[in-house]
Amino acid sequence: MELKCFDNISDLDRYAAQIFADTIKHNPRATLGLATGSTPIGIYGKMIEMYNNGEISFKDTTTFNLDEYVGLSPDHEQSYAQFMKHHLFDHIDLPKQQAHLPSGMVNDLKAECQSYDRMLAEQPIDVQLLGLGHNGHIGFNEPDQELQGGTHIVELEEATRAANARFFDTPDEVPTKAITMGVGSILKADSIVLVVKGADKANIVKQALHGPITTEVPASLLQTHKNVIVLVDREAGRLL
Ligand code: F6R
Repeated sequence: MELKCFDNISDLDRYAAQIFADTIKHNPRATLGLATGSTPIGIYGKMIEMYNNGEISFKDTTTFNLDEYVGLSPDHEQSYAQFMKHHLFDHIDLPKQQAHLPSGMVNDLKAECQSYDRMLAEQPIDVQLLGLGHNGHIGFNEPDQELQGGTHIVELEEATRAANARFFDTPDEVPTKAITMGVGSILKADSIVLVVKGADKANIVKQALHGPITTEVPASLLQTHKNVIVLVDREAGRLL
């Protein structure tokens, strides 16, 4: 794993966006793995700047998001579909039909998981962006005695629901389930960019990078991947 520590968040965001820009320049038909949450917002901002400057185009790329809440329609303000539109998709030239998020609204969630995995197998991810949960989750793969490889439905941990409650009017509104790419699908990406920001993640990023490889810290499985770059700000990186 390569580690880079940044004093300045804007520099970190630009560096991460540049990795995606370089991937697209190298292969305009690249498949990009995307994440939601607060961590990637600034990175998406830099990608939009690069698009506006004419440096990159997303028109031939395909994107796959890691996860979506179960039971929130894509029009719901807190759905990850809306998040992606608001922070990236509405501002770039990515054709709608090339942007994929799992749907948490279909009746047959199992079939949805299988169909997402089929699409991922047909268009393997070139570069995957990841944030890190306070409990070590990646995507919505929560700490557990065992983890699933493919796309699946998860019960969200109370701590995860509490962390995400800030985006909802009341904590009760945070869905209890999500659909997420599995750790196996994430590890199939050709390269992975793990971004960690903030003092409250210093301990968990240390466990993920230097602790034992364990399903109790799902991000620790990234230690087994051949091409991971970890970008941290000074606060998150203070124990590394
Ligand atoms: C979001 C996702 C999650 C977040 C993680 C960190 O698509 O997959 O694993 O990356 O919960 O969230 P933030 O960035 O809000 O701290």
